[in-house]
Amino acid sequence: MDLGLRGRACIVTGATRGIGLATARMLCAEGARVLLTARSPDALERALAECGDAGGEARGVELDVTAADAGERAVAECVERFGSVEVLVNNAGTSAARPLAELTDDDWRLQWELNVMAPMRLMRAAAPRMAERGWGRIVNVSSSSGKRPSATNAAYSVTKAAELSLSRAFADAFARDGVLVNSVAPGPVETALWMAEGGLADQAAQTQGVSREEALAAARSKIPLGRFAAAEEIAAVIVFLCSERASNVTGAAWSVDGGSVPAIV
Ligand SMILES: NC(=O)c1ccc[n+]([C@@H]2O[C@H](COP(=O)([O-])OP(=O)(O)OC[C@H]3O[C@@H](n4cnc5c(N)ncnc54)[C@H](OP(=O)(O)O)[C@@H]3O)[C@@H](O)[C@H]2O)c1
Repeated sequence: MDLGLRGRACIVTGATRGIGLATARMLCAEGARVLLTARSPDALERALAECGDAGGEARGVELDVTAADAGERAVAECVERFGSVEVLVNNAGTSAARPLAELTDDDWRLQWELNVMAPMRLMRAAAPRMAERGWGRIVNVSSSSGKRPSATNAAYSVTKAAELSLSRAFADAFARDGVLVNSVAPGPVETALWMAEGGLADQAAQTQGVSREEALAAARSKIPLGRFAAAEEIAAVIVFLCSERASNVTGAAWSVDGGSVPAIV
């Protein structure tokens, strides 16, 4: 199936690891031109090399998505390098295991900035440009915990739920202009967020007073498919939603969670 992404000008935020890197690599393999963004310049260098090997064209920009001018900057860079912006994937994000009573105002603010303000600013900058050309695709990477609140970090869950609502608001506002806006809601994925030393697996082990393997086994046991997703399995859905082939999908919030959230809508 030809996804129709050849030559498309794309932005992927948080593109140096995990889901973002897998998405950027897959877009490049489809022949797209991709602007990768993240904060670490060294990680950007490595990610650009990987994407360059995949095909298409990859460029990088060092950017903290929580900065007030991040949306305008990312879009300006994309237009300067590729002449337009046609695809946007709002992926940058993080979490940490923290009980409700221990979440500080700063924890809440960070999650709000990452999951609401950052995607909102990027969409606010990109969607009108896409609308002018009558074609665009935006995918917001939310979480299964946006659909079904998780006790791991309420600030994360609440703001991922808000991101689903935000995504729908942009979908409705830009549908008539050919700009299709969707979100994906992954369940647990084998990325650094969970698996790195000190990541969610180690944090869960500490909170539950069990070994890392036991904490991972407990997390897997809650997933009908019985395993974490690979980043590429989330990326494949994101890239499809970015494609020409997803031409009748907008305002959706696709679960990519191995069956974790037991809901049929
Ligand atoms: N892994 C999961 O189980 C899971 C499940 C559901 C949803 N998600 C969501 O999927 C997205 C990606 O997660 P992941 O697991 O792939 O995470 P990851 O492996 O930790 O990668 C996160 C990426 O985001 C970048 N990033 C983080 N904070 C940033 C900031 N303030 N500004 C710019 N870039 C930033 C990181 O680069 P720098 O640190 O260099 O900036 C990195 O490239 C997140 O939105 C996450 O909430 C993940």
